[in-house]
Amino acid sequence: MAKRTAQAGAAARAAELREQITQHNYRYHVLDSPEISDAAYDRLMVELNGIEAEHPELITPDSPTQRVGATPIGELVAVVHSKPMLSLDNAFTDEDVTNFDRRVRERLEDVASVEYAAEPKLDGLAVSFRYENGLLVQAATRGDGLRGEDVTHNVRTIKTVPVRLRGEAPELLEVRGEVFMTIAGFKAMNEQALARGERTFVNPRNTAAGSIRQLDPRQTANKPLDVFFYSVGEVRGWKLPARHSEALAQLREWGLKVSPLLKVVQGAAGCLAYYRDIGARRAKLPYEIDGVVYKVDQLAQQRELGFVARAPRWALAHKFPAHEENTIVRDIEFQVGRTGALTPVARLEPVFVGGVTVSNATLHNMDEVQRKDVRIGDTVVLRRAGDVIPEIVKVIIERRPGNARAVELPTQCPVCQSDVEKVADEAVARCTGGLFCPAQRKEALRHFASRRALDIEGLGTKLIDQLVDTDQVHTPADLYKLTLEQLTELERMGEKSAAKLLEALNASKTTTLGRFLYALGIRDVGEATAAALASYFGQLDKLVAASEEQIQQVPDIGPVVAAHVRHFFAQAHNREVIDALRTQGVNWPAQPQRTQTGEGALTGKTFVITGTLDSMSRDEAGDRITAAGGKVTGSVSKKTSYVVVGAEPGSKAQKAQELGIEILDEAGLLKLLAG
Ligand code: IVH
Repeated sequence: MAKRTAQAGAAARAAELREQITQHNYRYHVLDSPEISDAAYDRLMVELNGIEAEHPELITPDSPTQRVGATPIGELVAVVHSKPMLSLDNAFTDEDVTNFDRRVRERLEDVASVEYAAEPKLDGLAVSFRYENGLLVQAATRGDGLRGEDVTHNVRTIKTVPVRLRGEAPELLEVRGEVFMTIAGFKAMNEQALARGERTFVNPRNTAAGSIRQLDPRQTANKPLDVFFYSVGEVRGWKLPARHSEALAQLREWGLKVSPLLKVVQGAAGCLAYYRDIGARRAKLPYEIDGVVYKVDQLAQQRELGFVARAPRWALAHKFPAHEENTIVRDIEFQVGRTGALTPVARLEPVFVGGVTVSNATLHNMDEVQRKDVRIGDTVVLRRAGDVIPEIVKVIIERRPGNARAVELPTQCPVCQSDVEKVADEAVARCTGGLFCPAQRKEALRHFASRRALDIEGLGTKLIDQLVDTDQVHTPADLYKLTLEQLTELERMGEKSAAKLLEALNASKTTTLGRFLYALGIRDVGEATAAALASYFGQLDKLVAASEEQIQQVPDIGPVVAAHVRHFFAQAHNREVIDALRTQGVNWPAQPQRTQTGEGALTGKTFVITGTLDSMSRDEAGDRITAAGGKVTGSVSKKTSYVVVGAEPGSKAQKAQELGIEILDEAGLLKLLAG
């Protein structure tokens, strides 16, 4: 007897727990408004698992503990859809949409304006879900629309798919929806794959499709899959409401997750406004969408309109510019950068993707070319999502032509024919031509003239190309020998702009040692390192004469950078360019030397500057801080001594506050500088 009461007690408690858990699932996943903490939810699950472990006979198939079956299935079984799963006609332009709306109105005689249910078009895979008396009995992929594959074992593992409907459920309800993977979930999966040294996944859609077709549900259970339900298939025991939007509202009541962005809009104008609104929000959505879908909202009107071929007349998919397109690799060329690094660049058959026409994609380095096995002639998937640079995702191997050609790292620089050198454990290969190489020379000149270097206004890319290509400028020193006559002979260069450029060149001659060192473009010597070198050595000649060991004495300079610096000054041609620049009048005020004794007012202090200052630019403030022995860095950390905050500061000011770092205004900085 006692046993039977214990059993009855356990059964009652299990039923109660299941109901509570189901309700919390609904609030969390469908309504997006949980009532209890994750920990409290976990406690309910633990308790239910405990009861079921002790009384296995109490386990029900719809128990929230029973999502993941223990055994893999042998193969995916075909399922014939009771009603075909249709596809949609596509629209790409506003005109396509107004034409669609006009056709709809013409067919529905006497209707002046039509209401549409509009919702995002998710980029996942369509799945049909069968609920019998509220219980999920079958889930099948769309397949070819008439028959798909049974994926019930995997779909059950998706937390947002209820295994039992809430409330009063009809005898039969077949619903359709899109299973997808969130972008964050996709990224996390790729990070894990990388960490394990496995192949990464191409995009969220393929990853979702792959996950849903697993044979072992335990493989699917840990995948970040989600679903939105968007239509009703076969039903028994439910009188459909008058509108599609009302049907979706009822699905929601039953615990089926419907897009929160669903909206009923009026006519073509309403559709187009919706398209633009969702388009503007697209980049911020946590999942990928490839357009929006408009469906005539009144079901009676849908029935009147009917179908053509395999798409309904009452619905339309309005597509956004695609993130991915196929294109052909016409060639793979090597570009030479400022430091001589050779970058393989794929020249593509131009293709419209992500809203722009793309004809080049960087392949970064040879390791990447080999890993992706990209060959000339290959058809590739090109992806450009958001504002990121276009990327070759993968080669479509089935389309590789017989004459596809693999590229090899050239042994000679494609621009200057100097030897190419590859350091064993580095991914990059470099042209050894240095400033003899026109490509490196152009980049070096661009860097020399850039704003944070000698800041020569008006000396742009096109101009530098012309000056190098016509052999008028070999080194930065040659820039200062240019005459008005020479300049006015260049393309698109009037007398006025030529005079202005000469003026800018003249003005750039007065600089600081830090800027000058940065402008030289020594490998690995950025602004901060240049400033550190300048303040440590004080005079250029001392730095030029310094040994590697002496250079390593500079705070924050390690053996690698010291070797680059030493190597640079050991080259006679580099010293010649420096001498020539000084002969041309490039000069900087003597800099008080900050030695290892640390006598500067700001020695040992690290600064971050954010916002706009009144009396000087941020660069000037930086120069003055380094001149006084301080250090300027770009980001706030616990090591930062002061954050200088000007007008309209960025997030750095807030970070400083969070970390409790002393904040200075401009007056405070000036006081410190004055010592
Ligand atoms: S309705 C008869 N609504 O798009 C109407 N489809 O091109 C059937 N899709 O196979 C589809 N989001 O995989 C509809 N909100 C949405 C959708 C959507 C994505 C997919 C679905 C379908 C394909 C049609």
